[in-house]
Amino acid sequence: MMAAAGIRLERLTRRFAHRVKGEVYAARDVSLTVAPGELVTLLGPSGCGKTTTLRMIAGFERPDAGRVLIGEEDVTGLLANRRNIGFVFQNYALFPHLTVFENVAYGLRVQRLAQDRIAAAVGEVLALVGLAGYERQFPQQLSGGEQQRVALARAIVTRPRVLLFDEPLSNLDAQLRVRMRAEIRALQQALSITAIYVTHDQEEAMAISDRIAVMSRGTIVQEGTAEALYRRPASEFVARFIGRVNLVPARVVAAGGGHVEVEVGDHRLRLAGVEAAAASGEKVRLVVRPEAVALAPAGGDGLAGVVRTRVFLGEKVEYQVGVGDDTLQVTRYAGAADAAFTPGTVVTVHLPTAGVGLLPAGA
Ligand SMILES: Nc1ncnc2c1ncn2[C@@H]1O[C@H](COP(=O)(O)OP(=O)(O)OP(=O)(O)O)[C@@H](O)[C@H]1O
Ligand SMILES: [Mg+2]
Repeated sequence: MMAAAGIRLERLTRRFAHRVKGEVYAARDVSLTVAPGELVTLLGPSGCGKTTTLRMIAGFERPDAGRVLIGEEDVTGLLANRRNIGFVFQNYALFPHLTVFENVAYGLRVQRLAQDRIAAAVGEVLALVGLAGYERQFPQQLSGGEQQRVALARAIVTRPRVLLFDEPLSNLDAQLRVRMRAEIRALQQALSITAIYVTHDQEEAMAISDRIAVMSRGTIVQEGTAEALYRRPASEFVARFIGRVNLVPARVVAAGGGHVEVEVGDHRLRLAGVEAAAASGEKVRLVVRPEAVALAPAGGDGLAGVVRTRVFLGEKVEYQVGVGDDTLQVTRYAGAADAAFTPGTVVTVHLPTAGVGLLPAGA
């Protein structure tokens, strides 16, 4: 492998004419730095501009503004085939009339490498993706997972400086997706290839990435590690997109000294370690993850609630608990020494007092 190169996107922008909406920004001022050997995922809902951004990096789409740098080289004006980038698509895009060997060898033939070097390189990457012995098969004789491995082998055989993935697993069944994402991650780390990965699946993004950039409507709205995004979402959009969440309406009654005191209904909570600025009297929403909420038999200090639903999922139980006019999502793990609360049970709900984020009150 060539020494890994970083990627820098500087205010990449791409507009399209839209029949109904006029001009739409598929990508707008997208700036992102990916360190050498790092895997960063663009995560966001359908139509938020992930593919457009990836295509501009690959050179399949020209930006209206902004720059793409690989290493220190500005590649914005370079043709796709001059960028030394590997690309893995959702639909494999294998040549159906070529064997596995020839599919993988394709990029090396274009480079006019000698036959013995091609054979050695193809053999090496097929072994890496677990397909040694498949050389003479044709794509239609392979399963979806095997076809995607061929596509991966084809993308890395030319030793690209950068690998781009656009929803590479979305045609596979759920179990295979989980296995393949682990394989892709292991391979990317073993070869320390710089990679940008696109998905709309938050769990996949969390499992595979060093960092995640969350996109909405053509822009990156927040980036960070999966944990940072989960614990400190900067907006309702990110809070809801990364994991399940309760946004609990509250009012600040006192703030200072690293603590914020809030009122939820007629209940007071003293929150520690709140990073957001909050002023007394301000209406806010607490970012409370379902697993941070505890349930106890009725009585004692806490919020009064009624269990509405209980779903047993093996290692965890998911509850919906009515508190006032709101419904809280509560997840309890099998290890937690909770009683099993059946629907209709009156319970006391304990909100967490640490690790709680604050967002401004909703519109
Ligand atoms: N060639 C094009 N012409 C016109 N509009 C386009 C074109 N390509 C993309 N768009 C628009 O740009 C926006 C972003 O599209 P893009 O394909 O980048 O989204 P995406 O995040 O990859 O979505 P998905 O998850 O569905 O693949 C969409 O509104 C789309 O309709
Ligand atoms: Mg797409």
